[in-house]
Amino acid sequence: MKKLQHQLADNKRNGKALLATNFYNFETLSSVLMAAKSLNTPIILQLSESSIQYMGLSVSKKIATAAIEQYGVEAWIHLDHGNDINLVKSCIDAGFDSVMIDASEKSFEENIRITREIVEYASGYDINVEAELGYISKLGQEQKMIFTQPQEAKAFVDATGINALAIAVGSAHGFYKETPKLQLDLIQQINQATTAALVLHGSSGIPHDQLKESIKRGITKINLATEIKNTFMKGLKNYLAHSDEIDLRQVFPVATNQAKELVMEKLKVIAFN
Ligand code: 13P
Ligand code: ZN
Ligand code: NA
Repeated sequence: MKKLQHQLADNKRNGKALLATNFYNFETLSSVLMAAKSLNTPIILQLSESSIQYMGLSVSKKIATAAIEQYGVEAWIHLDHGNDINLVKSCIDAGFDSVMIDASEKSFEENIRITREIVEYASGYDINVEAELGYISKLGQEQKMIFTQPQEAKAFVDATGINALAIAVGSAHGFYKETPKLQLDLIQQINQATTAALVLHGSSGIPHDQLKESIKRGITKINLATEIKNTFMKGLKNYLAHSDEIDLRQVFPVATNQAKELVMEKLKVIAFN
């Protein structure tokens, strides 16, 4: 299998993108892998720090590795939004294919220093390193939009040596109150200014035509989390409202399948663009 950093570099050259899906437990991991399997597309499996806390580092990494093998899918394991330097290093040691060091809330200089430390740590491992420049807010929090600037992005990528760069171009984590409007020209400018493969965070709630257009402008990896969680939990609550089944192995597959359908829909938009 190709290293993720090489696949993303190819994507940058060819105007293609990979879907990166967060998973939270065995069920959502299965949803994502079943979707990738049925469409025969590669996929990135992401673990956030809180999902790692929930399952434990060893279990979450090993369950993903084992499931990838069992499903026979081409997939990479990635740490999403690593804020804790020691956890990022532990994930690298544990054999992740890719990590994100997120020091985007720090000053430009501090972000460079912290990101460089991880790039250096990762240099012996031949993995993908993603960092963030600008600030991609969480919806529900105070709206703070600091768009990434092309020349700053270039300076940041050159100073850190990262492969992949998460950019703030009008998306936000979680659902949107109003339909978001991605800064498509800005994506194109950042893509031309930097050598890094560009990552779009916060894709839940972004209209599919905008996702397709963002790929044309240079996005190579699109992160999806909230819609997976939401679809799974809605499916689960709906099932439980109409059933008093207590065998969880009968209950979960309904929700697992609904999340699978969602991921298939997203893969058709993103991976077949
Ligand atoms: P959403 O929750 O909006 O899909 O964002 C996902 C994300 O960016 C994970 O890093
Ligand atoms: Zn994100
Ligand atoms: Na979102």
